Amino acid sequence: MCGIVGYIGHRDAFPIIIKGLQRLEYRGYDSAGIALFDGTSINLAKTKGKVEDLKNKAKNISQEGKIGIGHTRWATHGIPNDVNSHPHYSNSGDLVIIHNGIIENYESIKKELIKRGYTFTSDTDTEVLVNLIEEVKKTEDVKLGQAVQIALNQVVGAYAIAVFDRNKPDEIVVAKLGSPLAIGIGENEFFIASDASPFIEFTNNAVYLEDEEMAIVRLGKEIKLRKIKNDAVAYPRIMELQMNLEEIEKGGYDHFMLKEIYEQPRAIKDTYRGRLLAEQGLIRMAGIDQNLEKFMNANRIIIVACGTSWHAGLVAEYIFEDLARIPVEVEYASEFRYRNPVITDKDVLIAISQSGETADTLAAIKLAKEKGAFVFGVCNVVGSSIARESHAGAYTHAGPEIGVASTKAFTTQITVLTLLALKLAKEKGTFSQTQFHEFLTELETIPSKVEKALESNPLIEIISDVYKESTNCLYLGRGYNFPVALEGALKLKEISYIHAEGYPAAEMKHGPIALIDDQMPVFVIATKKGHYEKVVSNIQEIKSRKGKIIAIVTEGDEQVTELADHVIEVPETLESLTPLLTTIPLQLLSYHIAVMRGCNVDQPRNLAKSVTVE
Ligand code: AGP
Repeated sequence: MCGIVGYIGHRDAFPIIIKGLQRLEYRGYDSAGIALFDGTSINLAKTKGKVEDLKNKAKNISQEGKIGIGHTRWATHGIPNDVNSHPHYSNSGDLVIIHNGIIENYESIKKELIKRGYTFTSDTDTEVLVNLIEEVKKTEDVKLGQAVQIALNQVVGAYAIAVFDRNKPDEIVVAKLGSPLAIGIGENEFFIASDASPFIEFTNNAVYLEDEEMAIVRLGKEIKLRKIKNDAVAYPRIMELQMNLEEIEKGGYDHFMLKEIYEQPRAIKDTYRGRLLAEQGLIRMAGIDQNLEKFMNANRIIIVACGTSWHAGLVAEYIFEDLARIPVEVEYASEFRYRNPVITDKDVLIAISQSGETADTLAAIKLAKEKGAFVFGVCNVVGSSIARESHAGAYTHAGPEIGVASTKAFTTQITVLTLLALKLAKEKGTFSQTQFHEFLTELETIPSKVEKALESNPLIEIISDVYKESTNCLYLGRGYNFPVALEGALKLKEISYIHAEGYPAAEMKHGPIALIDDQMPVFVIATKKGHYEKVVSNIQEIKSRKGKIIAIVTEGDEQVTELADHVIEVPETLESLTPLLTTIPLQLLSYHIAVMRGCNVDQPRNLAKSVTVE
């Protein structure tokens, strides 16, 4: 996720764009930039770092101009540095663009443009897009709006873009697919932004572009909306916004955590976008493709991580051993780094970290590298320390995770690790082409199945109200869902401060069942796939001791529904993909219980979003 801002009107653009970018920093903050047209030329400043750094950098340029665009970046292609920051010029210097999204086929377009003499200063997909627009404008001899339209019909991916031409400085062309874009409509002025926070103080009249729509925003004219595909006229739907600034930053949700829980369908899709090619029966991951022999010849895979990322690693252990038949061991990074582990150059170490800055995980990587292991990083922050320290890696594309309690990071980590395991299973031949294709097709249905799981939110709120005063809770799961039980317990602990423990369901009889009484809520993951009958008998053991049972079941379940005090349904999917769905109700349960207990959901006591110290 990035933040884009544009302005065209009667005021100075600079202060409006800078303040707008500051309000959008929650969408990304690894670099920022601004481009202004002062009537003669485009003046552009951009820098790694935050908008505050940009304000300093912009002291070196003219800040004049009543048209401009600005960008605060969450890197997906190209590490955070000055040249990869937006805005980007076209080769001629006539066009300048800002972009939020991912152009999946940018490499093939870049190759073609290089053949036609284009040069590139950055590693970004965005610089390719602005030069594609320039090439179309030149070869088709069309205006900017038409050039943008023709170019966008050649790209695959997601975008919210704003682009202007210094030879036609009375208009900004915008387009949207998959990433948000709003146009604020003022008195003889227009604002462009990822959400309304940059312009809500100036106007509450806004048009939100729909997917595959573009607009030419021209001073003194009505907004002209077009369908990108066929140039059909679309009619602007002007909304009168009632939200305040804080509500807008949280996307209308009460907390960042809830917003991020609901972002998971989009985040999972963005994470496999460009990597999962189900029709061609392919998984394309550069970090793996270029190091395949390391994985194929590995004696084992060691996974190191902390907290929620460690739980994602446990899910990966089941997936890798079940599908790819590669031995895996999962270690707490904090333990691994100090226990003098046996590591050889035949080991592959996978480090999982949302922030990419967790001190214990970083230390574990360094230890493994010293002993010759190949290190593969799975991070959410491009250019983070762990990403840079790893030999190779694959980013999750969850976008910034602001809530301290990790949610979309967990499901996108599992998505990346599933793609990795599938790719290795195919290469090792432990998966037939048919199985592989079926799996990829099912994986593509997960975002919509997560949407379906989120529909239980009202029921989950009711259940949360029943158990919000509990002092202890148990979470049980088997197989792939044992790590989900651990994750559900961690979520509840860290934001509601209720003591909770996760256990393999079968472990009950080895001690924990002594805890069961009518005051003990037990959250049981009892989906149809994976030892269902065994979980049913665990539930019966608990019921006979008057435990309260809240079960996560596969939709249409009858047997557990008969036994449990409450059931929450999730759609059916493959056993190894159930964690992506069963974790959703547990995230929502912990969220609602914490809110009902008056806890600070986004910044729980004693916790930090990134543990950069031991
Ligand atoms: C999870 O909800 C916690 N915020 C915490 O356990 C977190 O997962 C852990 O600190 C690891 O962080 P990382 O993924 O950034 O390395």
